[in-house]
Amino acid sequence: MFSLPLALVALSGAIASAQVTGTFPATPLASKTGFTYPSGIPEKVDTDTGLIRGTQLGYNLCNSTTEGPNSLCQTSFLNGVDDFCLWAPSKPNSTVADEEGEMVAWCTKPGRGTRLIPAGALQGVQYIKTPDYAQVVGFINQPLINLAADDFGGEMDPHGADLRGNPMGGIIFSTAFTGQFEQVIEWHNFMGGGAFCFKVCDPKGPHAADYCQHIYDRIGCAYNAPNNAQNGTFEACQGDNQDFPGVYTSNGQTITYTQPAESLGPITTIPFTARIPASSNCVSHSSAELFASLPTPSGAATTPTGSASVVVTTSNGSAAPANTSNDASILAISGVSILGVVFASLFLA
Ligand SMILES: *[C@@H]1O[C@H](CO)[C@@H](O)[C@H](O)[C@H]1NC(C)=O
Ligand SMILES: *[C@@H]1O[C@H](CO)[C@@H](O)[C@H](O)[C@H]1NC(C)=O
Ligand SMILES: *[C@@H]1O[C@H](CO)[C@@H](O)[C@H](O)[C@H]1NC(C)=O
Ligand SMILES: *[C@@H]1O[C@H](CO)[C@@H](O)[C@H](O)[C@H]1NC(C)=O
Ligand SMILES: *[C@@H]1O[C@H](CO)[C@@H](O)[C@H](O)[C@H]1NC(C)=O
Repeated sequence: MFSLPLALVALSGAIASAQVTGTFPATPLASKTGFTYPSGIPEKVDTDTGLIRGTQLGYNLCNSTTEGPNSLCQTSFLNGVDDFCLWAPSKPNSTVADEEGEMVAWCTKPGRGTRLIPAGALQGVQYIKTPDYAQVVGFINQPLINLAADDFGGEMDPHGADLRGNPMGGIIFSTAFTGQFEQVIEWHNFMGGGAFCFKVCDPKGPHAADYCQHIYDRIGCAYNAPNNAQNGTFEACQGDNQDFPGVYTSNGQTITYTQPAESLGPITTIPFTARIPASSNCVSHSSAELFASLPTPSGAATTPTGSASVVVTTSNGSAAPANTSNDASILAISGVSILGVVFASLFLA
């Protein structure tokens, strides 16, 4: 449990106060458990109305009617190196900061009612299964999934400052732990800087919320999903568990890092480097073999021009978006607009 003492909600436009009756849902997204795939999914997981961030953009009941480049499916999967989805915007040239609440599922496998990641967009992928979680980390041509080429991005997770999750109503299933589809409750997905990491934690694991911690949203994949993924390499591995994000050992002492508030400016130093756990039994694949059923990019999707994308590369060449936006301190309002109002609230997560 962490408390974010002060979250600023910056609003713009003309006031529509009659429509907004609150901030928090009756039930936080992370408490909406027990969905089963494929039957046992409601049309929308987030049915709240009148809340400050508006209503859920898409839907969770996804099928052959919804599948394709205009899908607004917000049911996602992480099953293996050839079978996962990433959260990305529904409209071209968007940023995580603007669209985190409205992200839709972009997947590598047809048949689930989602959008498909265009062929060639994935430039390297490492899937790792450990005792407590499964994770994909990789490199991606961002404009092909509607992310601005130079967006450093940020974090999606089922919490968020108002507990409705980012995206609102987004749910995840995985076969990684039982061989059957099961809903995973704790997960995080960082997108940005030409890279991504997406981790789902075993819902039966005692430390799911720790391995899939959601409070370190400004320090990217290198700290939340330390890895040795290589650009250009596609592989599936087994691995040991990471340390809990933000927790490290120094001079024999266990220390928990505190991420500074965004109001204090960019994070310039972090007093530790996250340990990359050992991996083993890696099996390499070709991109063509893994992603044979993906569509060629449409003309509408732009290829990146000379982008200013900067990625901190570890000595192992690991994916590590340099800096990210902070999903926890600014709530962008959609659906309603309120002019010149800035107010502060106490958010507990
Ligand atoms: C397909 O999904 C849409 C969107 O959730 C839903 O409205 C529709 O009822 C679904 N169709 C079937 C046959 O389940
Ligand atoms: C993306 O959006 C930015 C900011 O609005 C704009 O400057 C840029 O030209 C756009 N890029 C493309 C490829 O549309
Ligand atoms: C990954 O490799 C591709 C192809 O060489 C390159 O275009 C891209 O910039 C690389 N991504 C990163 C984040 O270095
Ligand atoms: C992110 O990093 C880039 C390149 O180092 C820098 O120009 C930009 O100001 C940083 N943004 C934030 C929010 O720290
Ligand atoms: C990453 O590189 C460091 C330094 O070169 C090395 O000690 C470490 O074992 C490497 N980690 C992996 C997982 O390859």
